[in-house]
Amino acid sequence: MKVTVVGAGNVGATCADVLAYREIANEIVLLDIKEGLAEGKSLDIWQKAPIDLYDSRTIGATNDYARTANSDVIVITSGLPRKPGMSRDDLIGTNAGIVKSVTENIVKYSPESIIIVVSNPLDVMTYQAHITSKFPRTRIMGMAGILDTARYRAFLAEALNVSPKDIQAMLLGGHGDTMVPLPRYTTVSGIPVTELIDKDKLHAILERTKVGGGELVKLMGTSAWYAPGSAAAQMVESIVRDQRRIFPVCVKLEGEYGIKDCYLGVPVVLGKNGIERIIELDLTQEEKALLEASRKAVREVMDVLERLG
Ligand code: NAI
Ligand code: 2OP
Repeated sequence: MKVTVVGAGNVGATCADVLAYREIANEIVLLDIKEGLAEGKSLDIWQKAPIDLYDSRTIGATNDYARTANSDVIVITSGLPRKPGMSRDDLIGTNAGIVKSVTENIVKYSPESIIIVVSNPLDVMTYQAHITSKFPRTRIMGMAGILDTARYRAFLAEALNVSPKDIQAMLLGGHGDTMVPLPRYTTVSGIPVTELIDKDKLHAILERTKVGGGELVKLMGTSAWYAPGSAAAQMVESIVRDQRRIFPVCVKLEGEYGIKDCYLGVPVVLGKNGIERIIELDLTQEEKALLEASRKAVREVMDVLERLG
């Protein structure tokens, strides 16, 4: 399997590293616009292979899309990250131009590929990749839900003093402060989380999760990369190994959840064809209202993108 990661910055290089050391793909191309960056990071990952014992080959390229030809999956991480004081939406103008030009090259060199967008604002950049590629919605998706649920699961593991491995969670909506974590669908080894933690503590964790990205931006002066890079690699793995795992993924809704023509995070089955199935949960009135608020927030940014042309 051939996987390309566009953008050899923090998230892209981390994703390529995970793809390599976990041998998720045997050929990994890392591409960046900055001269030598992708070549250098690819070489560094390859030189780690004899230490960490893997044989996936990483290849770097400076804006040479011929090297990415016929990729099965492409992860787009190119674009500006958030800086303190910025929202994800502040990145729209610059990142839309970058995602558009990258997607044009993907269509030219890998017309049958599956695209996973990571660049922010996530839901709207996924929409941008869709407008440019005109790929079916099964082959265009965005990574956010795995990261957001991972943050939620990590906070819960800490609060309950248990392994994060045993915490399962689902979440809906856009990748922003309006995301909709679902405590009703959160379990700890099958035990509903509400039986193990009091209401106020759970509420505080849900609120912290919603601003989990911002917490890291404040600490580091730029956005996170270890968990985002691994989350994108986990999506690639489910596709290239046809695992059919169920994850919250940003996908175009065409009537599911009563929503049309909007990119939002919902549970999907991820397999060799990309989005194999969208799972529709039976939501309470309160959850429906929260999802509607999230849809509105994403739609407003999609409208900005449309006005930008
Ligand atoms: P970074 O600045 O470390 O890396 C971005 C890379 O993109 C740079 O190396 C830059 O040279 C490259 N680039 C810019 N224009 C390009 C082009 N036209 N073609 C190829 N490469 C190009 O940023 P980082 O931290 O890796 O973040 C990347 C993006 O991912 C940002 O937009 C960030 O907001 C987003 N992000 C999204 C997350 C999510 O959950 N969806 C989580 C974390 C970050
Ligand atoms: C994150 O959630 C900023 O989207 C980025 O870490």
